[in-house]
Amino acid sequence: MSTILRKKAELKLKLVGACPSGLEDVMCKEWKSLGVHARQERRAVIVDSATLADYYRLVVWSRVATRIAIELQTFPSRGLEDPYKITRQIDWTEVFDVKAAISCEALSANPKLPRQWFNLRIKDAIADHFNQVKGSRPDVDRHQPDIEIILHIDQERAAFLLDPCGAPIHRRLYRQEAGIAPLRETVAAAILLWAECWKAKTVFDPFCGSGTFPIEASWIAHQVQPSLLIAHLGLEHWRWHDDRLYRKVCSEPRDAVNAEQVIIASDIDPAMVRIAKSNSERAKAEKTISFSEQNALVAPRCGDSGLIVANLPYGERMEQDRALHTLYRDFYKHMVQEFDGWDLVLLSSNLDALNSLGPKADRTLKFRNGTLPTDARLYRL
Ligand SMILES: C[S@@+](CC[C@H](N)C(=O)[O-])C[C@H]1O[C@@H](n2cnc3c(N)ncnc32)[C@H](O)[C@@H]1O
Repeated sequence: MSTILRKKAELKLKLVGACPSGLEDVMCKEWKSLGVHARQERRAVIVDSATLADYYRLVVWSRVATRIAIELQTFPSRGLEDPYKITRQIDWTEVFDVKAAISCEALSANPKLPRQWFNLRIKDAIADHFNQVKGSRPDVDRHQPDIEIILHIDQERAAFLLDPCGAPIHRRLYRQEAGIAPLRETVAAAILLWAECWKAKTVFDPFCGSGTFPIEASWIAHQVQPSLLIAHLGLEHWRWHDDRLYRKVCSEPRDAVNAEQVIIASDIDPAMVRIAKSNSERAKAEKTISFSEQNALVAPRCGDSGLIVANLPYGERMEQDRALHTLYRDFYKHMVQEFDGWDLVLLSSNLDALNSLGPKADRTLKFRNGTLPTDARLYRL
């Protein structure tokens, strides 16, 4: 019997979580701290048997996930040339109601797969099924769907995944304005979790740009839900949704983990400081962060111990290479001289510039920031 046919209370969901590549381990640990056992399988994070409450908790609380989908059904993928037939094997009227705006997407590592055509065939099969059973069909909205249907195809099998939140959950919506190279909110949160920022007396971001690190640090310290500004409207159309349970999970109290933490953010560009401030206001974090305009190369020590998180300019889109190497070296030298006893995380996609620093990092996390291979390197100064 397929999962779809089981009653809500007995639901055991297989969850497939996505996050920026390389951050899967951080996400598994985050999910464990939320009481959900997860494992990494290739580039995905899998929960084999989740309750509905587990699913809601992850949707509401995961800071690292870009998407959390539910596996509906799997099929052998050998010889799959047209997804219409397998799509018709699922009773979609049991999965979501006809008012849901849907989007269908075929995902495969095979570059030869005619993805657009697959997307259309999946959508046609769902529309035909609804027309036949209900006499009407759901609308399609590629940009802001309520429900996203994904057909994930690999060499052995194809799996239908359902994202009842519709759009990816990585955008927090506080960042209406950004600089030239803003960090994804999920990446900033993952790096902070990896560096165990909640243990630090002070968190200092001397290259704050649009303020992603300080805002995420504040949300972690004060246990603010990362989904605070997002309405999960798609859930209303999901047939398995239990609104009472969802609201209960949303209102589960969580105490601040470090309400006393001092968070300091600065940037050399006054326009960026202004942007970071107004983003922090939208995030309702402005009272917890001190902003200033400052050259990181002369930043004075700002506490007896703490964590510095520095997302340095990385050249491709900003400075030229030689000047960058000098900036990295001068900044690192200044940190060593001024911030003895602190932890320093340098984050950059310019690995040459990071390598030019000399000393080996105590810990390194390798991941992709968009398409760019990126390192976060932690130094104990
Ligand atoms: C890669 S961006 C940081 C992006 C930021 N993490 C975000 O999410 O928006 C680098 C920032 O460093 C700033 N910057 C460059 N040189 C600086 C310096 N010497 N001191 C302080 N900030 C500097 C730039 O103005 C830019 O905002």
